[in-house]
Amino acid sequence: MTEHPVLAALAPRLALVPSLDATQLEAEETAVLGRKNGALSALLKQLASLPEEERRPVGQAANHLKAQFEVAFAERRGVLAQAATDAERGRVDLSMPGRGRWIGALHPVTQVMDEILGIFRELGFVRVVGPEAETEWHNFTALNFPFDHPAMDLHDTFYVDTGDRRNTEHDRRRGRSSGLFPAQERRSVADRRSPDVGEVLLRTHTSPVQVRTLLQHQPPIRAVMPGMVYRKDPFDQSHAPAFLQLEGLVVDEGVSFVDLKATLTHFARRFFSPRTSVRFRPSYFPFTEPSAEMDVECQLCGGTGCGACKGTGWMEILGCGMVHPHVLRNCEVDPERFTGFAFGMGPQRMAMQRYGITDIRLLYSGDTRFLSQFTG
Ligand code: PHE
Repeated sequence: MTEHPVLAALAPRLALVPSLDATQLEAEETAVLGRKNGALSALLKQLASLPEEERRPVGQAANHLKAQFEVAFAERRGVLAQAATDAERGRVDLSMPGRGRWIGALHPVTQVMDEILGIFRELGFVRVVGPEAETEWHNFTALNFPFDHPAMDLHDTFYVDTGDRRNTEHDRRRGRSSGLFPAQERRSVADRRSPDVGEVLLRTHTSPVQVRTLLQHQPPIRAVMPGMVYRKDPFDQSHAPAFLQLEGLVVDEGVSFVDLKATLTHFARRFFSPRTSVRFRPSYFPFTEPSAEMDVECQLCGGTGCGACKGTGWMEILGCGMVHPHVLRNCEVDPERFTGFAFGMGPQRMAMQRYGITDIRLLYSGDTRFLSQFTG
């Protein structure tokens, strides 16, 4: 038999019931099952007027559909009622807009570090890493620090207690102050030149990676060495006890101070801007001779003088110099044949200079109100 047109029209509307809101549900219930004007109710009332042979099948089909609608309406009413109570209890507010997705981003210092490494990669430098827990020999001795250099002092350097109570340089110094060891007990130069004897410490700079690189590779060497370094500094606006450095080392035949100046000037102009002025000031490091510090035009005032550059118009960005012949010799490189230059910079300070950040602690805070300004 062919389906009654009223049933054919109503059947598809059954599937739509679960998507109706409360007002629509009420209207639909009235339209389908309403006692006065509901389409199904009307059909059932009119059964008697149908031709004899249609009455039964149409009646059955209409009653079946009516039962299905009743179940669907009841279920939908239940769901909506539950949602309304949940919303009232504050658990789910169906009208609330969705939360924006939080997308992570690289830390501003990581971005700066990547950029610096990228500039040196263009120049043919390879990236090298070394250990953060270093020997006294790699961190100081091989780098030509004099035996009693103040940087080695307990006040500045974190020494690691290895439980090995050998008579090391550091023990000896401690002992001398407490009278435990006779003042004349001095370790021989040969002892001091042994990488395996002596204290273990947290490296105070990335320069020991120069030593490790020179010991492991024949020149020509062109390397950058990023990493964390540690000093017993207070944690204040401009100091942190753990901070980043980036070391550079170039060793080959015929490398001169001209190469140093050209490389570092190029770097500063790539990193800051093509017309940034730079200047080199004489300085001192035990492991370079001659030594210098490089300043760039203050990025905040453009060189006219402001609070950030203390009115000088310049900002110091790195230390550098020609690798000291003693360092080359300590690393078994012939200083008669090879020369080189080295430099060390602080990527965190460079990030601060670039973005005008005046408190280094912000870089360690993980505060998203600060960090979200650098998600670019
Ligand atoms: N190691 C020096 C420092 O920590 C920086 C430096 C590196 C200077 C290489 C010269 C050459 O201050």
